[in-house]
Amino acid sequence: MSNTRRDSLIAEMGLGPVWKLRDRAAEALASASVEHAATGAATGASTQRALNPAQPVRRAPPSMPAPMQPTVHVDDGREGTILGLEWPALQESVAACTACALCRTRRHTVFGVGDPAAQWMIIGEAPGADEDASGEPFVGQAGRLLDNMLASLDMTRDKNVFITNVLKCRPPGDRNPESIEVARCSPYLVRQVELVQPKLILAMGRFAVQALLNTDASIASLRGKLHRYRDVPVIVTYHPAYLLRNLTDKLKAWEDLVFARQTMQELTGEGVASGA
Ligand code: URA
Repeated sequence: MSNTRRDSLIAEMGLGPVWKLRDRAAEALASASVEHAATGAATGASTQRALNPAQPVRRAPPSMPAPMQPTVHVDDGREGTILGLEWPALQESVAACTACALCRTRRHTVFGVGDPAAQWMIIGEAPGADEDASGEPFVGQAGRLLDNMLASLDMTRDKNVFITNVLKCRPPGDRNPESIEVARCSPYLVRQVELVQPKLILAMGRFAVQALLNTDASIASLRGKLHRYRDVPVIVTYHPAYLLRNLTDKLKAWEDLVFARQTMQELTGEGVASGA
């Protein structure tokens, strides 16, 4: 990639002139190994562990790993029904969901946005105040950063990407999702992945990573590797909200995007710009 192109991508992500990209992205790509997360090669029973039970943690200060809470699997009889729904019925089911207490405080459910046949799927944590008000994921400050990140891949949120969250309703006060909430909501995400059939999932932040890969390993230790949720390749990166507080990790996120773009090109055998 030319320096000019690189500089413009960095500017798109709001990294600013402070950042000088050395060859770390190339190094990350070169050293990135294709590996299945130990528990993330989720098939059969392990898939059930990965997404159906919560991968619950408390939202932790940026530098402190959030501890895992006990795994919860709620068999409330909804799962089989949800896993049989087609897209419009799934949307209706989310909109009408009363499976956990979040339904009492939400203004809108946030199903997701984008192309339901997209090659890319981006999975975040949970709606915040702006998303709760609008019904669309990632529309606040973190969302603007996500849009810039997508732009650095020549992508927009309405083209070849589907964006959603682990939770479809806002936790009051933007507290961390609770394990029971993740457990109740997880069949929706399972079904969304089944229906979208993305070529690549970008898991943003600990909650998405834990829900998909069933691991409490740090984002730092999972970056730069290709993981799998069922048969879908998963790339792990920092959550945009975290990046807003931790500017020094923005460059790492950009490296993750470069890795994701290269992976997508390898998966599809085509350039992202034409496929996006
Ligand atoms: N953070 C998320 O994880 N998702 C959103 O939709 C907004 C902020």
